[in-house]
Amino acid sequence: MQPQEGLFHSPGAFSGVAVLRLSRSVALPQLREVVSSIHEELSTTQGLNLVLGLEPALLPEVPVRPALLPREGPTARFPSSQSHVLVHVSTGNRELLLESLRRVLALSKGVLSLEEELLGGRIGEGRDAFGFRDGLLRPTREHVRHAAIVPSGPLAGASWLLYLRFQQDLERFGRLQPRAQANVVGRTRDGELVVDAPAEAHILRARASGAGENHLLIRRGFPFRQGGEEGLAFVAAAADPDSYARSLDSLLGTGGQTPDALLRYATAVGGGLYLAPPRGWFHTVSLQEALS
Ligand code: HEM
Repeated sequence: MQPQEGLFHSPGAFSGVAVLRLSRSVALPQLREVVSSIHEELSTTQGLNLVLGLEPALLPEVPVRPALLPREGPTARFPSSQSHVLVHVSTGNRELLLESLRRVLALSKGVLSLEEELLGGRIGEGRDAFGFRDGLLRPTREHVRHAAIVPSGPLAGASWLLYLRFQQDLERFGRLQPRAQANVVGRTRDGELVVDAPAEAHILRARASGAGENHLLIRRGFPFRQGGEEGLAFVAAAADPDSYARSLDSLLGTGGQTPDALLRYATAVGGGLYLAPPRGWFHTVSLQEALS
């Protein structure tokens, strides 16, 4: 089964996330019609990358599993604002970004309502809201295929998406000396590794879970600014949702591990787990049928 093509493309200069909620009276076939129309139109729009995910419980093929969110550690938590549909669009053209989000709303009218929307994109040569270089190791197609695509079984070709909305406290982080800031991240502002970084440094906590260097998950998030709030729309794709459990627990410091220093300056205010079905799922009756 072919994965959604958008998964293979890093976010462009402009990115947006729309989280949509299903109207109460709507049945699954109607939802499938709507998301299939969105997928059909936007995945064939030149210059636009689309990844579309659904709440896993909406898909009968997905085995029931313990909820990923909310998740709690000794000093921080990742709350849940799970909804039904996640649309992630990215492009080099801002007009196309706006038009694609307008089309998502127009095509989903009466079936889905907009719950949350974040628009953002690249800062400078690719910095986060704290001014640190991010996305240093760009994933290849092979990295994506390996880390982010379910290889076999009833969900072959699908990808698990994690969305987290982080608020970043620029004032608090800005009060730190450059050396202390670099120790929080584990890299300097320009991306050089801090060799003697403390164990609580963000990249060391991320690597401790096995998620470094595009293993386990592919990060495809983007910084945003909205209504005076700045942060990161963290979006990731993984072949196995347990990779997220491991990474998030590693950042939280669950089970006696060191909590991630970055979480003193960045707060997750919502998020959810979604499944991006393979291309063939759209406009078909079930994953099993799509596979046969
Ligand atoms: C506001 C929240 C976050 C910020 C500001 C942030 C920022 C950064 C920065 C600046 C880097 C170094 C640049 C790079 O290696 O590309 C990085 C690396 C990384 N982050 Fe985050 N991050 C955040 C949340 C997360 C979360 C929630 C996860 C995992 C669930 C995560 C996983 C990683 C991984 C795996 C790396 C690469 C480590 C490596 O290969 O060396 N980050 N992050």
